[in-house]
Amino acid sequence: MTGKEIRQKFLDFFEQKDHTIVKSSSLVPENDPTLLFTNAGMNQFKDTFLGVEKRNYSRAATCQKVVRAGGKHNDLENVGRTARHHTFFEMLGNFSFGDYFKRGVINYAWEFLTEVLGLDKEKLYISVFHEDDEAFNIWKNEIGISETRISKLGEKENFWSMGDTGPCGPCSEIHIDQGPEIGCGRSCCDPECDCDRFLELWNLVFMQYDRDAEGTLHPLPKPSIDTGMGLERIAAVVQNVTSNFDTDLIRPIIEETASIAGIRYKDNEKLDISLRVIADHARATT
Ligand code: ALA
Repeated sequence: MTGKEIRQKFLDFFEQKDHTIVKSSSLVPENDPTLLFTNAGMNQFKDTFLGVEKRNYSRAATCQKVVRAGGKHNDLENVGRTARHHTFFEMLGNFSFGDYFKRGVINYAWEFLTEVLGLDKEKLYISVFHEDDEAFNIWKNEIGISETRISKLGEKENFWSMGDTGPCGPCSEIHIDQGPEIGCGRSCCDPECDCDRFLELWNLVFMQYDRDAEGTLHPLPKPSIDTGMGLERIAAVVQNVTSNFDTDLIRPIIEETASIAGIRYKDNEKLDISLRVIADHARATT
């Protein structure tokens, strides 16, 4: 499946589940002085989550252009050095504005990954916020994931905020075990390790609060859902390559650059990092 096909399958899946397909908003957010660049699919819905803006739908899905090169979500220094970080990437997301909540989103995500994309259920691992027994029990009792494959993690891993202020909430992440040969060599055995073995695929955020400038959490008018899955990462998994840079979305740019420079990709680690950085930055600037 090409990246283009995966993007379309995601949008078609959620359209069939009564979601309105909304266009990606601009990379430069409108009317939001808290952000320089759009850093998540939920940015254009911030006021909808807060109850300030009403829309004529309660479910949406997008493929959002995002840049994470500064601010709270900053991947700049990792670009080219890991298999999975970019400045610019495309984020697939589905959203509920006071419509379905934890049970609904968990079931949709599982169905999309295992039935539409056909990922091996046995390779999928889950993390939940350590206080969130409700999400833990849905994964365990309703989806049927063994307790040994569900990690309870703290705020750093499993509580998502857009920035210092704004909508936020506990989250549950779906990871895929890419096998010990991809790991860091330490005895990593669950998603808490930051190496590439347990690759975070999809973040399901249970939007419940608005954080103010003092850090106080105020409940949102209605519990809502915000999810994000990097297209380049899921494409790498579906295309069975170990790096986003080897997907059909990025590899052609690397090959073109290498040919202009008269060098070969995968010949020299230092040059390879440079080629990956050029491909990433070329996409971001374009
Ligand atoms: N907004 C969440 C994220 O960016 C889904 O990870």
